[in-house]
Amino acid sequence: MVLIAHISDLHVGSINFDEDILLEAIEEVNGLNLEAVIITGDLTQNGYYHEYLQTAEYLKLIKTPIMVVPGNHDARHVGNESFEEIFLHRQGTLSSMDRKIKIIGLDSSEPDLDYGKVGRAQQQWMENELIKAYKMNQYKIIALHHHIIPVPKTGRERNVLTDAGDILQSIIHERADLVVSGHKHVPHVWHLENTTFVTAGSVSSLKLRGKDVNSYNIYEILDEEIRINLNTVGGTSNLIATYDNKCAVPEL
Ligand SMILES: [Fe+2]
Ligand SMILES: [Fe+2]
Repeated sequence: MVLIAHISDLHVGSINFDEDILLEAIEEVNGLNLEAVIITGDLTQNGYYHEYLQTAEYLKLIKTPIMVVPGNHDARHVGNESFEEIFLHRQGTLSSMDRKIKIIGLDSSEPDLDYGKVGRAQQQWMENELIKAYKMNQYKIIALHHHIIPVPKTGRERNVLTDAGDILQSIIHERADLVVSGHKHVPHVWHLENTTFVTAGSVSSLKLRGKDVNSYNIYEILDEEIRINLNTVGGTSNLIATYDNKCAVPEL
């Protein structure tokens, strides 16, 4: 079994950012035997360079390899350039030590805009990475900030990917196993064809819906199934969904 943590929407620099909650969450994930931590954007509130420097200090505390992708807030005030300077790239891949799992990180942000877009060049790159992973019989995870499928009870939908249909088609066709996103600060799970789509809540922003609390997701990836757990910071861990892994084995 491989354990992966998914945290999102830190919003460092916001008046709604709670440092104590973030540090508590990092301590909790460090206490798990994780293969990797995926961080799906909105690391900063305004994309300011000093917010990035502060965020980088927090992320250095995480003891496992991380996959970080930018969110819409990170692309404000040329934050996309700061992101690249500090985290080296805005899209990329990360494989588990045993090479059985491959995480493909996408940049869905657009400078100074809230909506998201993957774009045709990056879509092609994603497809190629999915095909390579499929040939190697790897479990394929896509990480991006904007959700591809709308999330219930999040108000009027305005900020999905403008090319959601095209990206969804590629993901289903190239048999991604798991797609993880943030953005709405609302945890949710959809399952479509053989792909599971999971959004994370916010790990450390108090900009939350109703009685929601700060949370992050833990994925237990077994040979035969994936188990999705919702962990509240300083609270409980609840299994919220389980699905069979049908994509991982190539059909000959
Ligand atoms: Fe956010
Ligand atoms: Fe966002």
